[in-house]
Amino acid sequence: VPVATLLRRPADIIGTAGNARHPNIRASRDLYQPQRQNSRGMEFGDRAALSELVSAVAAEVTLEAGSIVDATPEQVDAAMSAAREGFKHWSRTPADRRARLLEQAANLLEQRAAHFIALLQREGGKTLDDALSEVRETVDFCRYYAAEGRELFGHDKTLPGPTGESNRLRLRGRGVFVAISPWNFPLAIFVGQVTAALMAGNAVLAKPAEQTPLIAAEAVRLLHEAGVPSSALHLLPGDGSIGAALVAHEGVAGVVFTGSTEVARSINRRLAAKDGPIVPLIAETGGINAMIVDATALPEQVADDVVTSAFRSAGQRCSALRLLFVQDDVADRMIEMIAGAARELAIGDPRDPATHVGPVIDAEAKQRLEAHIARMKREARVHFAGVAPDGNYVAPHIFELSSADQLTEEVFGPVLHVVRYPADRLDDVLQSVERSGYGLTLGIHSRIDDTIEDAIDRLQVGNIYVNRNMIGAVVGVQPFGGHGLSGTGPKAGGPHYLARFATEQTVTVNT
Ligand code: NAD
Ligand code: ALA
Repeated sequence: VPVATLLRRPADIIGTAGNARHPNIRASRDLYQPQRQNSRGMEFGDRAALSELVSAVAAEVTLEAGSIVDATPEQVDAAMSAAREGFKHWSRTPADRRARLLEQAANLLEQRAAHFIALLQREGGKTLDDALSEVRETVDFCRYYAAEGRELFGHDKTLPGPTGESNRLRLRGRGVFVAISPWNFPLAIFVGQVTAALMAGNAVLAKPAEQTPLIAAEAVRLLHEAGVPSSALHLLPGDGSIGAALVAHEGVAGVVFTGSTEVARSINRRLAAKDGPIVPLIAETGGINAMIVDATALPEQVADDVVTSAFRSAGQRCSALRLLFVQDDVADRMIEMIAGAARELAIGDPRDPATHVGPVIDAEAKQRLEAHIARMKREARVHFAGVAPDGNYVAPHIFELSSADQLTEEVFGPVLHVVRYPADRLDDVLQSVERSGYGLTLGIHSRIDDTIEDAIDRLQVGNIYVNRNMIGAVVGVQPFGGHGLSGTGPKAGGPHYLARFATEQTVTVNT
């Protein structure tokens, strides 16, 4: 379905030549050497050259970067019919061929890194560091799923049996998968969902977030160019109503969703209410993510990791730190250092390489966050209130709550909530984390092994980070996803993920 048109195509002027001139744009090249600094240190050689290149591209992605036409309900039907046809061929395409197409997509992404970075900045409001690490993560997803998929789908597993009988287990695609994604990782999550479903042999109907459809359209173009048949991958932009129509369609064999807990619930209900086959849902949602800091932690490291975890990406990461528990003996000093580090952050135009905190996604998000900040100013103690420039900017804020129960839902922006705890009440802290019902990320800063192991054992949290920051999971290194209100548990970028998109078939032959 042709839906998006870039007014100009800066990719054409960058292409391979652009990268040859700027070899420092380095996506991770080898699946088994994912660069730790991909998502954390953002290390690249010639930052000025990269910035210059991105600016040149961004100038081409003019103020009106493109236009988008939302899909209609009729197009949902048409795309479903086409995808069902496409599935027949795609599901029989050898796994090695499917993997090679994903690897080709990774190569093209690397070649066009500057183009995608410019679009991520223009449409998604991403800083240079965030946009770069997102392109790298996307490349990692393509290569990782290609390699895992070759193993998993490349050959049947032979199982034991009595003499005269052969048994084998094979994994195959389910049919047409609906992939619904959020705006906060408009490239990495969009492509991650789509490539996982494709690698498992499914045809895909992809519905990107309404805030970031151009990036998705460019990604789909790139996947088609890499060789993924257009019958196997369709883009259906639009708001939640298009997502709802896709989920409700009788032809759906599976749904992968990343976004809010509330929408995941509504999709679950819609699937459960349908007649016909029982359709699985892979849901990856939000969290009220906590970090626990005791008196043995290193203050400078805590300050650095807290500021990164709470304010990087303007706090618009599902993994971001929302609730900081600090042991009361060290709380004053820690909070002072954290506020000091927050004061150093530059807020502003994401295209300026010096910017640490860019805009929030839109005016609605800003309004929601400002309402929360106004409430906190009435109900909590203010430790830090940054100042934002005009536009859709929200400055970092730090509030101290008297109880964690004052925070009942995910606040998706640069707002940190702090709660003090007495040394002998660590148990209450763990109970409070459990009580929230979420289980996405958890940070622990402590040098006491028992404290660390106890928290790891007791808490059903998907990703736990000890003595470091708690964002930027690396594909193949920190498989990512949560439990409870945070999702159904599959780990994107992990070795068990692709199997969730497949069915299993056991074949027994009397020989
Ligand atoms: P959202 O739930 O509002 O929207 C996500 C997607 O669902 C969008 O494409 C939207 O159009 C679609 N949608 C909305 N209503 C729908 C419906 N009734 N049926 C089907 N689809 C519908 O979330 P968002 O604001 O785009 O993203 C932010 C949220 O995503 C946060 O809660 C964040 O924590 C979460 N998130 C989670 C992860 C993870 O891996 N766990 C990663 C990134 C973001
Ligand atoms: N996977 C992203 C992170 O870990 C959300 O920050």
